[in-house]
Amino acid sequence: MRKLLFGFVVLLYGCFSVDGAKILTYCPSISKSHVLICAKYADALHNAGHDSVLFIPTYAEALNTFDGAKHAKVWRLLNVTAAYDAKFDSYASIMEDTHIGFLDRMSNDVYFWMDMCEDILKQFHRLQYLADYKFDIGIFNDVDPCNPAIVKALNISKTVLLSTEPIMDKIAWDLGLPILPSYVPSMEENPNHDRMGFFERMSNAYKYFQSIVIHYLQDRKMANLFRNYISPDFPSIMEIIRNVSVVFVNTDEMFDITRAYSQKFVFVGMLEAEKSKNETLPEKLDKYFSKGKLGSVFVSFGTVTPFRVLPERIQLSVFNAIKKLPDYHFVVKTIIDDTTTAELFAGVPNVDLVNWVPQTAILNHPNLRMFVSHGGQNSVLETMHHGIPMVIMPVFTDQFRNGKNVERRGAGKMVLRQTVVNETFFEAMNEVLTDERYTKGAKRTSQLMKNRPFTPEERVTKWVNFIMAHDTSEQFHLESNSFTFIEHNQLDIFFVFVLLPFITFVVYRRFFKSKAI
Ligand SMILES: *[C@@H]1O[C@H](CO)[C@@H](O)[C@H](O)[C@H]1NC(C)=O
Ligand SMILES: *[C@@H]1O[C@H](CO)[C@@H](O)[C@H](O)[C@H]1NC(C)=O
Ligand SMILES: *[C@@H]1O[C@H](CO)[C@@H](O)[C@H](O)[C@H]1NC(C)=O
Ligand SMILES: *[C@@H]1O[C@H](CO)[C@@H](O)[C@H](O)[C@H]1NC(C)=O
Ligand SMILES: *[C@@H]1O[C@H](CO)[C@@H](O)[C@H](O)[C@H]1NC(C)=O
Repeated sequence: MRKLLFGFVVLLYGCFSVDGAKILTYCPSISKSHVLICAKYADALHNAGHDSVLFIPTYAEALNTFDGAKHAKVWRLLNVTAAYDAKFDSYASIMEDTHIGFLDRMSNDVYFWMDMCEDILKQFHRLQYLADYKFDIGIFNDVDPCNPAIVKALNISKTVLLSTEPIMDKIAWDLGLPILPSYVPSMEENPNHDRMGFFERMSNAYKYFQSIVIHYLQDRKMANLFRNYISPDFPSIMEIIRNVSVVFVNTDEMFDITRAYSQKFVFVGMLEAEKSKNETLPEKLDKYFSKGKLGSVFVSFGTVTPFRVLPERIQLSVFNAIKKLPDYHFVVKTIIDDTTTAELFAGVPNVDLVNWVPQTAILNHPNLRMFVSHGGQNSVLETMHHGIPMVIMPVFTDQFRNGKNVERRGAGKMVLRQTVVNETFFEAMNEVLTDERYTKGAKRTSQLMKNRPFTPEERVTKWVNFIMAHDTSEQFHLESNSFTFIEHNQLDIFFVFVLLPFITFVVYRRFFKSKAI
């Protein structure tokens, strides 16, 4: 009897508890910030009591030893591909191009992820231990369309999509969200926000069209790879994406543009924001940021485009701004061995150069007045969370949108790199520093982000527990998934109620007229 009772209790426990689910976060090392985002999710799930594994196939060799995760297990696949680093070498020149157009995207984006993915597929047996571990949930990210397909090929039944940036057009499309380029800015290479005039709406619709075409071609090529290497009846990437249980969007609805979405989307926001509150700077950096009569300014354009690779006219514009703002102290991030930038700033008293910085600690510094950046998603979220106004010069993908978002929330200004001349940075920086509205806008956004209901950690762990216990992948299916373009846009209804009466009217008039004559 006691045994029976015990069995019953165990059974009950098994039904209602989701303790110790095995969760895989699949995350190729495409950049440090990317690995870091994945790591935060893996850590949050570890801290919630799950067996959380962050799996990193190496794309960028420089990240071979960068775990990001402090608590979750980190497993790696080393020596998989040389393709990524080779591609990246040619990427630095992107700053010189003033515009990334449709043809560039067709020739670069469509093929971009294929080589790395094929390299992994050639050695797919090296991933067998992941399949054998029998994960309950697989979390993948959507930037590289290889990721969802790999997780599918590992036979992990429940999946979660981690959108490391605002919802991508392709994800919205795959999940059947209404297509509304009238006010939803297309995600990539697009400096528009939700308030657009006629020509902006036109350009936005075109960008949206580009996005869908490119991702369609990308997904088709990707699925063909898996059909070659894994199984001839491998599903489409779209079908895999449609079956996710939930989408974690790594942005904050208090900051991001308001748009329509479905129950499958959970806006997480910044994980570990609370922890960063107490971070302080090492003494040397603290000294740098304490200089400046009216405050200090941090300038960093990210790892892909360190200061030295910026076109000369942009470097000079920043240089000019710094010289014309002597009451502020500037800390400029460069890379090790960057002697050109050191020479440029030699003799300018209100500048210090640094090559490594703990960014959240900088944002905590009481003397910091502004952050000048390329507008990467992580940086922007962190900066907004800390209530620091920004000047943003986007480089690619979602950074334009992030910059526009900051403008939209009244927390800074965006500078388009093709328009930069000598005075551009001075004008933008001076305005943001001297007009109080920007600081107020940043503080207001920060308050909303800090006080929004439910912490990012709660959102992630409670949803994961929920989908462990229940199957939601079909529950949240938008019916529009199964619609044709005509049905989705009600073109048939439009025909019946508008076009048909109009045609009937015209025909009738002709008939009536001819009878009257
Ligand atoms: C990766 O390749 C390098 C040389 O190409 C080799 O030294 C190293 O042992 C390899 N590592 C693994 C884990 O295979
Ligand atoms: C996934 O499941 C299929 C069908 O059961 C099987 O053929 C395949 O080997 C499995 N894949 C892995 C990586 O174990
Ligand atoms: C998606 O879910 C449906 C319904 O559960 C299932 O029939 C289909 O095989 C799934 N497709 C993939 C790619 O997982
Ligand atoms: C930060 O510091 C305060 C006061 O020293 C402390 O009460 C709090 O627990 C710390 N928070 C974290 C996340 O460490
Ligand atoms: C930029 O403007 C400053 C004055 O604001 C001037 O001294 C400098 O020569 C200008 N540089 C160029 C390259 O035009």
